[in-house]
Amino acid sequence: MRVLSGIQPSGELHIGNYFGMMEPMIQYQEDSELYCFIVNYHAMTSVSDGQKLSQGTIDVALDFLALGLDPDKSTFWVQSDVPEVTELTWILNNVTPVGLLLRSHSYKDKTAQGIAPNHGLLSYPVLMAADILLYQGERVPVGKDQQQHLEITRDIAIKFNGTYGETFVIPEVEINPNIPMVVGIDGRKMSKSYDNTIEIFCDEKDLRDRIARIVTDATPVEAPKDPDKCNLFINISLFLNEREKTELAERYRRGGLKYSDVKKELFARIWEYFREARDKRKELAQDVGQIRHILQRGAEKARAKAAPTLDLARRRVGLVY
Ligand code: ADP
Ligand code: TRP
Repeated sequence: MRVLSGIQPSGELHIGNYFGMMEPMIQYQEDSELYCFIVNYHAMTSVSDGQKLSQGTIDVALDFLALGLDPDKSTFWVQSDVPEVTELTWILNNVTPVGLLLRSHSYKDKTAQGIAPNHGLLSYPVLMAADILLYQGERVPVGKDQQQHLEITRDIAIKFNGTYGETFVIPEVEINPNIPMVVGIDGRKMSKSYDNTIEIFCDEKDLRDRIARIVTDATPVEAPKDPDKCNLFINISLFLNEREKTELAERYRRGGLKYSDVKKELFARIWEYFREARDKRKELAQDVGQIRHILQRGAEKARAKAAPTLDLARRRVGLVY
């Protein structure tokens, strides 16, 4: 099974990114052919500070490697180090209806937030389709918010195959049914764009501050509470086993539970959960040259995998004469 997914270097990664995408990806390296990449071309649609983009790219690489991604068991690279993906994007542009792109929720949300509707933002899903189709990805683990992008990829691939003959594998989207969208400290979807995240690698004080800011309701301490409606419960559940979750839910329903106690427990769980990765990240950050070397090696592997597909697509559309 060829499993593939990418993540943008557009800000500090958070526990939503971890449970929705990174953790399932890292698991796949054990029994699948894993392709994992840092999508810096995509991040250009939201980051216009070059220094920030280049530092963000190294940061995401450090995050992934610290969390256990093994570059020997997977192919791990930076999107722009395989520029062939932009050629495939151009080829795919020609089978992509503009209406399909205009219907993208992500495009509509971003422009509604005031982000300039430039061509990069509109054609974001075509570049994403190229990312997936270039490596003949079969399964794409992502959070639920990416489902429509994956449907667009499938539409583009089906249209291309229908027009030019069988060329691309039609990928399957994979959304972990055990992980719903992770909620942010304000109760909305946790997202870098909403300033409501709990970062994986923030320092102790910042983590305490973020957790202290998790919005809870005003039910008095002694009253019974509904765990399923509580952001705090939803967040801490990510770090509890079934038995612990049931016990905490009972404490909620019984009454007498203080949200501040649950916040302390949540801090302790997160701090412990990422302890080993935090230490490893510090160690890896000592030698950024080595990180660049790992990424270059990954790009060479990725390039070799991409070449036959791009060659076939070029032949199909008539670019080889
Ligand atoms: P953000 O919304 O913070 O900018 P991205 O769009 O870069 O995150 O998402 C990177 C990956 O993490 C995607 O696969 C996405 O589906 C997943 N993801 C992002 N936020 C969440 C969340 N709150 N819960 C689960 N998965 C998420
Ligand atoms: N759009 C994805 C996100 O924001 C990132 C991405 C780019 C991606 N190319 C991809 C995900 C290819 C999966 C496969 O999270």
